[in-house]
Amino acid sequence: MHVREVTSAETAELRRQVLRGGRPVALPGDADPAFHVGVYDDGTLLGTGNVRLDPAPWAPDAPAWRLRGMATDPSARSRGVGTLVLAALMEHARTQGGGLLWCNARTPAQRFYERAGLMTRGEPWEDPEIGPHVVMWTTL
Ligand SMILES: CC(C)(COP(=O)(O)OP(=O)(O)OC[C@H]1O[C@@H](n2cnc3c(N)ncnc32)[C@H](O)[C@@H]1OP(=O)(O)O)[C@@H](O)C(=O)NCCC(=O)NCCS
Repeated sequence: MHVREVTSAETAELRRQVLRGGRPVALPGDADPAFHVGVYDDGTLLGTGNVRLDPAPWAPDAPAWRLRGMATDPSARSRGVGTLVLAALMEHARTQGGGLLWCNARTPAQRFYERAGLMTRGEPWEDPEIGPHVVMWTTL
């Protein structure tokens, strides 16, 4: 299993399957510059995620990275794929100047992010199409 930088197009289908139920929708933010990684095992893409420079809503003037698109193929969950993705994205953001790292986390993934050191901020809210979310963040 190894992690490497990829294009957004390389991971779009996995993200569509995992995060949009396979619906052929445009993925938010894919038109903007971002750093994407993929975890591969024997040429098969198992997981992905990305970060981009994007201020946190509560600190518009602070340097910040937004984490998006975290998705592991259901058949490869709980094997450390997501942890590998998140570590690579945090390392990239740190070496590119650091600052805040934040995301709108789906609440079922909250413990996963907490394990990487992220904290919740404010109250959870419901995205009518996707479900409950909470802001999570840390400083790099
Ligand atoms: C969130 C998500 C990306 C995590 O990916 P993952 O590859 O399963 O992540 P990991 O395997 O690194 O960690 C997940 C769990 O496996 C456990 N784990 C990590 N490494 C492990 C290993 N080597 N062996 C066994 N278990 C391990 C962790 O303890 C963790 O447990 P938790 O569920 O209590 O947090 C994945 O669950 C997913 O795609 N979910 C659906 C989409 C989603 O909600 N994305 C986040 C949007 S904000």
